[in-house]
Amino acid sequence: MTNKEIMNKGQEYVMNTYNRFPIALVKGKGSYVCDADGKEYLDFLGGIAVCVLGHSDEALQAALREQAANLWHVSNIYWIKPQVELAEKLVKISGLGKAFFCNSGAEANEAAIKLTRKYFYRKQEANKNEIIVFKESFHGRTLATVTATGQRKYQEGFAPLPEGFVYADYNDLGSVEKLITENTAAIMLEAVQGEGGVHPADRKFLLELRRICNREGILLIFDEVQCGIGRTGTFFAYQSYGVNPDIVTLAKGLGGGFPIGAMLATDEAASGFAPGDHASTFGGNPLGTAVGNILVKTVSAPQFMENTKKLGEYLQESLNKIVDNRIIEVRGLGLMLGVEFNAEIKELVQICMQKGLLLIGAGPRVVRFVPPLNINQKEINQAVAIFKEALQEWE
Ligand SMILES: Cc1ncc(COP(=O)(O)O)c(C=O)c1O
Repeated sequence: MTNKEIMNKGQEYVMNTYNRFPIALVKGKGSYVCDADGKEYLDFLGGIAVCVLGHSDEALQAALREQAANLWHVSNIYWIKPQVELAEKLVKISGLGKAFFCNSGAEANEAAIKLTRKYFYRKQEANKNEIIVFKESFHGRTLATVTATGQRKYQEGFAPLPEGFVYADYNDLGSVEKLITENTAAIMLEAVQGEGGVHPADRKFLLELRRICNREGILLIFDEVQCGIGRTGTFFAYQSYGVNPDIVTLAKGLGGGFPIGAMLATDEAASGFAPGDHASTFGGNPLGTAVGNILVKTVSAPQFMENTKKLGEYLQESLNKIVDNRIIEVRGLGLMLGVEFNAEIKELVQICMQKGLLLIGAGPRVVRFVPPLNINQKEINQAVAIFKEALQEWE
């Protein structure tokens, strides 16, 4: 089937929830993907910060094949060996206490919201059920996580929304302090806002949030669904800042493309859940956790992280060297970078695609670069060259 045939059939049978580009990607290897008409692209969005080891990674394939030959699925009413092993790895790397597995970022955040409420409920402080979240954040599409998301456009038409979320300004401590009441249970944020435009938090801001949480006896929740799993040059983005959370959520990169999400919590916070409080049929499934084990082992190796940091600096420098008076700023951490323009970038992204470079926006004026973490300098040079060419054509 050609791109056009797949698109036509899709328009007939698939629900109309995405603004899709008119191509169907059918094959991938490393940092490159190929569409149904045989055209090759350099993939600098990697399934939107998901394919951290690129496409068709041999070790991930082997892990999946081996697990598939042994056991696909059993219920969480039994112990699942690869799940237990992945929990151990994540707990040790994070410095937290326990892991819960699910299937997506929204579910991981939903679990964090539920754990927060149950934690205080069990402490006979059920009034503590309000979470301070941030404008321009993104936490998912379930009713609770879309409410936690500080962007009206995602909430419109879905009323009534759940209660218990109040919105502060990102990197503005005063706006957080103003929202603290006796009902505050937690502060929840992305260390680097992704969908909201690639905005890294100030270190001082995160340190102060930790201090406020300690002072008030409330929980600090980091949503690392996009900025976690090595993306910023440390396994968890909060490690780049030296600020520890009580709860952290993961998904996207955790399976390198295999759907899996997780919530990690300190032993204290995790004590909020008892058997029966929360569950997921597929969460921590043998296939997903078998893949996750190899991915986490690979990405958490010190050399791999060091390389990601260097590649991130190199890409940032290369983008900074581009001379174009429509560029307002290049910002980000590690291999989570954004180029902000003084105009809408939709057409620029389309030109890049036509020229063989896949990118994605983060809001209307920011082009986001979230490539596989194992790209190389040559691929970065190629991407930057295509981006420069596209800028020349973009009016
Ligand atoms: C920071 C953040 N949290 C949560 C989500 C939701 O993840 P999912 O689409 O897997 O539900 C996303 C997705 O983009 C995200 O970037």
